[in-house]
Amino acid sequence: MKIIRAKDYSDMSCKAASILSAQVILKPDCVLGLATGSSPIGLYKELIRQYEAGLLDFSAVRTANLDEYRGLPQTNDQSYYYFMREHLFRHINICEENLNIPNGENPDAAAECARYDAKIRELGGVDLQLLGMGHNGHIGFNEPADAFTLGTNCVDLQPSTIEANKRFFASADDVPRQAYTMGIGTIMRAKRIVVIVSGEDKAEIVSKAFFGPITPRVPASVLQLHPNVTVVADEAALSKCGDLLK
Ligand code: F6R
Repeated sequence: MKIIRAKDYSDMSCKAASILSAQVILKPDCVLGLATGSSPIGLYKELIRQYEAGLLDFSAVRTANLDEYRGLPQTNDQSYYYFMREHLFRHINICEENLNIPNGENPDAAAECARYDAKIRELGGVDLQLLGMGHNGHIGFNEPADAFTLGTNCVDLQPSTIEANKRFFASADDVPRQAYTMGIGTIMRAKRIVVIVSGEDKAEIVSKAFFGPITPRVPASVLQLHPNVTVVADEAALSKCGDLLK
């Protein structure tokens, strides 16, 4: 696991964006696994800037997003599809048919999970998976549990995740209670993983996930076993790692 220290959120975003742009330049038809949330917004802005400057071409890029709320249509402004459209897709020359995200509108959870896994297999797997990390160490919506998940699954969101995500909704009551998420097995099969973490509120979980024991109680800790993980974290997020980084 390689840990890259960034000064702040903006530096983290630029450094991580450079890794994604290198991926697109090296393999123009790569499969990018993408994340939502506040962590990647600056990174997506930087990719848009590079695209607008004529430095990047997304026309052959395929994507597979990590997760989607169950029950929200793509047109709902809190759906992750809507988020990706607003923060990245509508600003770059990516093709609609190359975008993949779990379908929150499919009420048949088993069918939707099987469909999404088959889609990722058909794409040939993920070349580069971008991840943020929740305060409890969740990746995608894979919450702390007794075992690591394998394929796409339908999860009940934990109260702490509902609390963290309510800032995007009118109230906590409006946050959907379930989501479809790519499984940890699929994430671990990505050829390369880039984790971005910013802020002092993540400092505790950063030290646990990347320097503590590997346990499904801290889902991101499994990333320690992946052969090609780069963590791009700002100083605030690394502030509890101290000597561990030396
Ligand atoms: C989003 C996702 C989540 C977030 C995590 C961190 O697609 O899969 O795991 O990455 O909740 O969220 P932020 O970046 O808002 O702190």
